[in-house]
Amino acid sequence: MNNPIGVFDSGVGGLTVAREIMRQLPGEDMVYFGDTARVPYGSKSKQTVLKYSKQIVRFLKTKNVKAIVVACNTASALALDEIATELDIPIIGVVKPGAKMAVENTKSGNVGIIGTESTIKSGIYNDYIRELNPDITVVSKACPLFVPLVEEGLLEDRVTDDIVGRYLQVMKEYKVDSLVLGCTHYPLIRNTIERFMGKRVTLVNPAFETAKCLRELLTEQGLLNDRKKKPEYEYYVSDGVDKFISFADSVLPCHVTDTKVIDIESF
Ligand code: DGL
Repeated sequence: MNNPIGVFDSGVGGLTVAREIMRQLPGEDMVYFGDTARVPYGSKSKQTVLKYSKQIVRFLKTKNVKAIVVACNTASALALDEIATELDIPIIGVVKPGAKMAVENTKSGNVGIIGTESTIKSGIYNDYIRELNPDITVVSKACPLFVPLVEEGLLEDRVTDDIVGRYLQVMKEYKVDSLVLGCTHYPLIRNTIERFMGKRVTLVNPAFETAKCLRELLTEQGLLNDRKKKPEYEYYVSDGVDKFISFADSVLPCHVTDTKVIDIESF
């Protein structure tokens, strides 16, 4: 089926998920929406994130998307289940695929989850993990400073090393051997996290796992587009085109030329 996939996030972070979809599903067209006017979602209530997510889904439907990927961990945690019950096309988030891989990877039975305050407070990663294996100990920790550090471009910096050490010391104390990077931005500081945690800890990137799940879902439902034509990508934001484009150019394998601002409140 030739229709595009809709991907949305609270802002630029979801481009790490878009990047994986581009790599793993090179035949698919994509419409990306980043809610750059209302970011961050990570400190907002369920009610607000649900309202924003519903508006975005309504917008993506006007683009005739055949499936939706909620690239934002916070929106996946707080809004996905409710939206899925009302939607007539497939929708997946990043939380379930990440939780599944964390369970598959652990040998010690101690799994770590890091994410925004709202994602961690929701307890959703813990719920999914315990559903899969009730014997696993889940250690979770909100890391609110990681998002601004990444957006400031401090990917390799002493300050980032310091903050990573402060937040993740608890993961060492509990001897986790599988750590979920449960926020769109965290894969971008993967090297710093790996340096601190050591090579024996497996870092789970939900973006990668989600692209794999999306391929399975599209294949199962007969929606996969594996034609050989160059894919088309469209980008929409709610504010700040220039900042979006410069971040996108640092994350995506292709240059982003055209990004449109839309009034998301009108959807
Ligand atoms: N995209 C968000 C997430 O993955 C991080 C940024 C925000 O707080 O909105 O949870």
